[in-house]
Amino acid sequence: MLPSPLDRWHDPALIDHLAHVRKPWDVLTRRIVRAVLTKFLPKPPGPVVEVGAGGGQLREWLPAELVSDVLHTEPSEPFVRAFRERHPGANVIRAEAAALPFEPASVGAALALCVLDTVPDIASVRDELRRVLRPGGEVVHFLDLATSPDCLFPELIAGGELPLTNFARDSALLGVLTDAQKALLPPADAFDEVLALPWDAWAAFVGMLERSKHPLAANLGPYAGLTAPGALDPEKLARGFIAAGAEPAGLLALNRSLLALTLSARQLGRAWPLRAVSSRAHVRERLRTTFDAGHGFAVEFAGPVAAREVVAAGGSLPEDVRFVLRHAGRTITRAELPSAEYGTPADVFDGEPVPPRATEGGQVVRETTVEVFVARRI
Ligand SMILES: C[S@@+](CC[C@H](N)C(=O)[O-])C[C@H]1O[C@@H](n2cnc3c(N)ncnc32)[C@H](O)[C@@H]1O
Repeated sequence: MLPSPLDRWHDPALIDHLAHVRKPWDVLTRRIVRAVLTKFLPKPPGPVVEVGAGGGQLREWLPAELVSDVLHTEPSEPFVRAFRERHPGANVIRAEAAALPFEPASVGAALALCVLDTVPDIASVRDELRRVLRPGGEVVHFLDLATSPDCLFPELIAGGELPLTNFARDSALLGVLTDAQKALLPPADAFDEVLALPWDAWAAFVGMLERSKHPLAANLGPYAGLTAPGALDPEKLARGFIAAGAEPAGLLALNRSLLALTLSARQLGRAWPLRAVSSRAHVRERLRTTFDAGHGFAVEFAGPVAAREVVAAGGSLPEDVRFVLRHAGRTITRAELPSAEYGTPADVFDGEPVPPRATEGGQVVRETTVEVFVARRI
């Protein structure tokens, strides 16, 4: 059982941290938010409400003609206080998205930023949004940061799978593998964060190794000791996963151990069927199936939206970097970048031209994507 939002979202330092992480992409994220709202908000929008507003980041990206009329809601008292300090003139009240203090059919649009990936009981939030929205009103959700594993991990574990860090995309490891070893790994996109393995396969092989104190079972980080009775706690694992990803040397050591385990299991002929999972794609699917026609909504858009800008070279970016993309919470440079497009260009929604991806001498091109979900109340 996950703790309630009020237990988890209480530290205003998190708001400062998020603002810091978002800063380099600010112009681009604002551009995407505005393009999406231009395209999808009803005209005129009617009363606009934000849920899970945190410290007011989304407010900073809203168009001027909208911002004065938005009513922000947020369940965490410390976050409401932080919001009021940052935006003294704003209208913000304390409320849960599943219990909003509004009349039925009184709201024209409900906005949120990085909220629905953290809410375990999303059906209750959907039902409340259906109650307060007018027919034709819109739910617009933005996700500009790495997706929270809060909902993904409990679902995978409940379905009998163990979410592992994606060692199959760790370039530092892949370089030393033979082609035959690489062929033992599952195909994984650079932006799949998780490799899911059936729990039975893990418990049988790793349980045996742990009981015999085999070196292959050493250095398993957040995955150590999981086969002990009651040790498989989805929330603890999600926190361990986030912590491992934030520390590159530790993550490399963990990925090396998971790779060694996988190669041994495969060479011993054990069942070890890994499957790559993108937590972003998982959230997209979860929203699509939750806001469906059977529950009073029509999905209008679900996927990443991209924007790009040319910035002067020699700024905060390393000299050799000429193209930087932030997607699915991960920043990659031109050298790593396949030719694929990672999102619908924002100009598809509002017609403003996007700079070309190719760079010229002395310039750096920076691109970001935001995962966007839009559903209309029918
Ligand atoms: C990752 S933070 C994002 C905060 C802010 N929107 C931002 O992007 O900076 C998740 C936010 O969702 C809020 N939240 C979590 N569960 C919620 C719920 N059931 N109803 C409304 N808000 C919720 C939290 O209190 C927190 O402010």
